[in-house]
Amino acid sequence: MLYSDELIEEIRNANDIIDIISQYVTLKRSGRNYFGLCPFHKEKSPSLSVSPDKQIFHCFGCGVGGNVIHFISKIEGLNFKDAIEFLAERAGIALPASENARDIYKQELKAKVYEINEIAAKFYHDNLYKPYSKNAQEYVKKRKLDNQTLKAFLIGYASPNYNELYNYLKKNGFTDEQILASSLVNRTENGKFIDRFRNRFMIPIQDIRGKVIAFGGRVLDESKPKYINSPENIVYSKGRNLFGLNIAKKFDTTKLLIVEGYMDAISLYQRGITNVVASLGTAMTEAQGRLLRMYAKQIILGYDSDGAGQAAIVRGMDILTAMGCDVRVLQMEGAKDPDEYVIKYGSGRFLKLMDDAISLVEYKVKILKRNSNINTTSDKIKFLNDMAKILVSVDNKIEQEVYIDRLSSEYKISKEAIYAQINKIRYGNKPAERVLEKQIIKRKTELPEDKEILQSSKTEKVLITLLINEGRSVYEKIKDKIKPEDFKLEQNKIIVKKMYEEFENGKSNIENILNLLEGQEDSINQVTAIMTEDLEINDVNKCIEDILYTYEREKLIKRKNEIIAEMNKLEISTDEARKLEGELSDIIMKLAK
Ligand code: GTP
Ligand code: MN
Repeated sequence: MLYSDELIEEIRNANDIIDIISQYVTLKRSGRNYFGLCPFHKEKSPSLSVSPDKQIFHCFGCGVGGNVIHFISKIEGLNFKDAIEFLAERAGIALPASENARDIYKQELKAKVYEINEIAAKFYHDNLYKPYSKNAQEYVKKRKLDNQTLKAFLIGYASPNYNELYNYLKKNGFTDEQILASSLVNRTENGKFIDRFRNRFMIPIQDIRGKVIAFGGRVLDESKPKYINSPENIVYSKGRNLFGLNIAKKFDTTKLLIVEGYMDAISLYQRGITNVVASLGTAMTEAQGRLLRMYAKQIILGYDSDGAGQAAIVRGMDILTAMGCDVRVLQMEGAKDPDEYVIKYGSGRFLKLMDDAISLVEYKVKILKRNSNINTTSDKIKFLNDMAKILVSVDNKIEQEVYIDRLSSEYKISKEAIYAQINKIRYGNKPAERVLEKQIIKRKTELPEDKEILQSSKTEKVLITLLINEGRSVYEKIKDKIKPEDFKLEQNKIIVKKMYEEFENGKSNIENILNLLEGQEDSINQVTAIMTEDLEINDVNKCIEDILYTYEREKLIKRKNEIIAEMNKLEISTDEARKLEGELSDIIMKLAK
């Protein structure tokens, strides 16, 4: 472990679990806990529970749980150490310089690149107002951008000069290595330094904190390539960012529009549509999906690309739907992109388009219709099969029925046939097996052993709750009679073993059970489940008595069965058999009490 327990504790305390989880999930308070849709599995009704008192989360749907560090680690896909660093940065807690030379080097370089990006953005922006930037100023006019917008996005201009930025950065004390790491300057084969962006309209890309992480540079005319973008580097990852989110998040983002071009986002913003971001030239990633979900309930896709791009778009939208977002698709006609549309028809009509955006299913149906050529019967069958595949995913039965009605009348197919096809896709071919399977499951849950297991798992939970809440006093009462090995569930064995060790080492309370279990994911999930369940125990002593009594009885019953099995193997009236007979009658007496 690289950081001290005290420091980790400080970082944990500085990041309230409700604050953190609220950034990814909409939480509602109910009683002492908060509830929301679990971000780790697909669900319609909330089974994620977050406790502000205990600073833990647990999902009763998929079973994951932990503290705020575990949450960040899972949702951001970071290892434990990186999750700690993420939370430290968020809380503004300085971490001790790493002992690891590579880490130090990387951190310093990163800090320098952020600094370079900021200085460069300002440099390009100031350039835009210089007398020699006439071309760029003309272009600003042509694109109808006002000064407030230029300021808001820090838009700038890179002159045709070959090393203007390089020289400026050198003058500001940056090393060649740092400058190259920013990707703003390239080194040629013969060792010359050349600015990457020349004679381009400069659009800085910022992360949600507003740090400049990259640039898009557009030509001022029709030449190619239209855009040059910063490549991914030490501070820039396309798939983890969205252009304009740092600005959009200052306004209402309940509905958020994603457009394809930087200029679309900028143009809409200028005309009062501030809830807009642009993708960075990649298909939607899960990281971007989470980013969007953090801010928006409804996501409107503002581009309807045809051909190759379509499948990728739909996949991205499926990711968002799986995360619980309401996904819509904008239907725009009469302009090639939102920028052109809003200039031509005004923001009122654009807002109407946003209100009228169609659902993802409707969009899929529309594409399928557009791409299908129905001439023969087999075309028609294939089309209806594809349609059924789309409709299977519609959870809302009313919505599903609307589509089925429409399809049925449009293609003259009975509704029953469509339902049959959907059911076939959903359940496969063998209804008889399905019924059988259900019956087996039902019978299983009614078996007495299962009841016993349920019973014992409840008892084990109660014991663990008591040990956490009451500490040493409970341990003293039970330690001789109940051992960690007596617990049936493997995770419980591990939890109790850890707690017993603490008490053996003289601790009077379990301060942080999750820390003790670090690295044992199953046990962490189990203990957060128990803590979240918050079993109500009114009379602690009576409860312990009951449990000890139950364990005692269980042990006796087990021994009784052992003796009976043993005796069956022995000759009657040997010494050993007689001894066992004596023990057995003792046990039977005890059990009868
Ligand atoms: P305008 O044509 O000025 O309105 O720009 P736009 O932002 O509307 O761009 P467009 O819709 O043509 O393209 C959408 C996005 O794709 C752009 O914002 C860029 O991120 C990216 N893009 C477009 N052209 C290029 C290119 O030539 N090279 C690269 N790398 N990316 C491009
Ligand atoms: Mn455009």
